[in-house]
Amino acid sequence: MKLKRILSAVIAFAISATALTSCGSTSHPDLYAYDEEAPSLYEAFSEWFKVGTAMNTSDLVEGSEEMEILIKQYNVFTLENESKPENIHPSEDVYNFEALDKLVEFANEYDKTVRGHVLVWHSQCPDWFSYDDDGNTVSADVLIERMKEHITTIVSHYKGEVDVWDVVNEVLGDNGGLRDSMWYQIIGDYDGDGDKYDYIEIAFETAHEADPDARLIINDYSLESSEDKTITMYMMVKSMLEEGIPIDGIGLQMHIDIDFDAETCKNNVEILMRLKEIDPDFVIEITELDLSCYSWSDSSTDIELTDEFVEKFDSLYSDIFEMFIEFSEAGYLDSVVMWGYNDGMSWLNGYPVSGRVNYPLLIDRDYKLKSAYWSLIDLAASKS
Ligand code: GLA
Repeated sequence: MKLKRILSAVIAFAISATALTSCGSTSHPDLYAYDEEAPSLYEAFSEWFKVGTAMNTSDLVEGSEEMEILIKQYNVFTLENESKPENIHPSEDVYNFEALDKLVEFANEYDKTVRGHVLVWHSQCPDWFSYDDDGNTVSADVLIERMKEHITTIVSHYKGEVDVWDVVNEVLGDNGGLRDSMWYQIIGDYDGDGDKYDYIEIAFETAHEADPDARLIINDYSLESSEDKTITMYMMVKSMLEEGIPIDGIGLQMHIDIDFDAETCKNNVEILMRLKEIDPDFVIEITELDLSCYSWSDSSTDIELTDEFVEKFDSLYSDIFEMFIEFSEAGYLDSVVMWGYNDGMSWLNGYPVSGRVNYPLLIDRDYKLKSAYWSLIDLAASKS
């Protein structure tokens, strides 16, 4: 299997190099992502960072095109929905470990990394956490006990198997400061030290106790575009790191669109990376990358993929990965995870405009490699 993969990488590199030298950077063979002759995205970027995708356990059918794509193209995996609180722990006494167990088994067999997504979040979180049997909101003590038992049970179950955890997701609000979630409201300033980071601090401490070797991430959106949110994140994490809270990195979801501004992103990452002054091993991970073909203000449902548009889309992807290479070379970045491995499965179909068709990823609905994919392969070859 290993020899087969090395051979296919050599053939793919030769094809890509021939295409580059003979016809410029745009001519590439017409290949499916699972084809033997297709290059491997994660191998192409392996000297800088890991490359992963969100997926579902229904993709893990031996011999299927889906599973072949996952094995060939990526080396980090996140379950799109199956390990979120409402699925893995739907009621107090019920844990559903089957899905994440299946991913872990796959990862062990093929030497891949697993991201556990997500332990504490305001969304896709069942109501039982915050209500008692009479429908009353529980006290801070009860909620903390429930959260601790949730985290300890899950993280211990996967000790040494799940490499990275998104311990908390989207704890910042859109108007500055912490999100006004039920975790925040109920637990508040539990230790009386004047800040309300308490539920986050307890979550990280509990996860660290359950698996001291797992990388623990605080994950959020818009950190690539909002300097205010970035500064809020920086100040909060700085204060927690100074108190010894075991946070290993910040996850930038990076659900971006065609108006993406790389300069703002670089500036914000530089701000976050000042946290290395406190912990030299502190990193960022790109956790949910996709590139919507629509501007945020656009309400249309379909877009014509003209040559001009595709060229813009492809060069944007290429610029973004070039920026990731810079981050990696500065010691900032560990992995880049895409939020899906083909346009058909993307959550951006139908969001935020109902009925919308989107094309935000690197592989099309038929599993063909898009020109954006090839622009990344060319980029990696030119930088090696
Ligand atoms: C957020 C969550 C993900 C996923 C995406 C889009 O970013 O972190 O789990 O739900 O939205 O669907």
